Amino acid sequence: MKKNQNQLVLVAVVSLAVLSMSFINFYSTIEPWKAPASAKTIKNPLKGNVQATKEGKKLYDSMCAVCHGNKGRGDGVAGMALNPRPANFTKSVVQDQTDGEIYWKITNGRLPMAAYKDILTEEQRWQLVNYLRTFKK
Ligand code: HEC
Repeated sequence: MKKNQNQLVLVAVVSLAVLSMSFINFYSTIEPWKAPASAKTIKNPLKGNVQATKEGKKLYDSMCAVCHGNKGRGDGVAGMALNPRPANFTKSVVQDQTDGEIYWKITNGRLPMAAYKDILTEEQRWQLVNYLRTFKK
């Protein structure tokens, strides 16, 4: 009897610990990433430029697909264990943003995603914005 009670207490303590950890995890991932209002109106100089979209695909396949997946679904092999998970570009939460906001996010990054400001030129970042639009459902 005594032994059973001890086991019960142990199970309760462990459950509580697991529960509180998942709460912490939940609340630390929930905050959505928002670009500042000033990013909204940045104009895409390559809008509708088909050649730029092609260049964007090349860049995407070599630099972004590893986390965001070949089809932009956020399911790349290197993204599986990340917290937060890589964005799914087929979703309206992404596609409803302006080109300027998406450009701003690629430029500035947010951990675990790097900032591409010093890695890619402005032109390359806009080429990527064009390509990300092709994932729209
Ligand atoms: C190391 C993995 C990794 C790589 C490589 C990576 N990303 Fe990301 N990306 C992420 C993660 C994780 C998020 C989610 C960040 C968040 O919500 O705080 C994200 C978010 C984004 C977003 C924001 C989506 C939104 O609206 O919230 C854009 C845009 C984006 N990535 C574009 C790119 C592009 C373009 C590349 C390639 C140049 C790239 N990413 C490479 C991991 C990665």
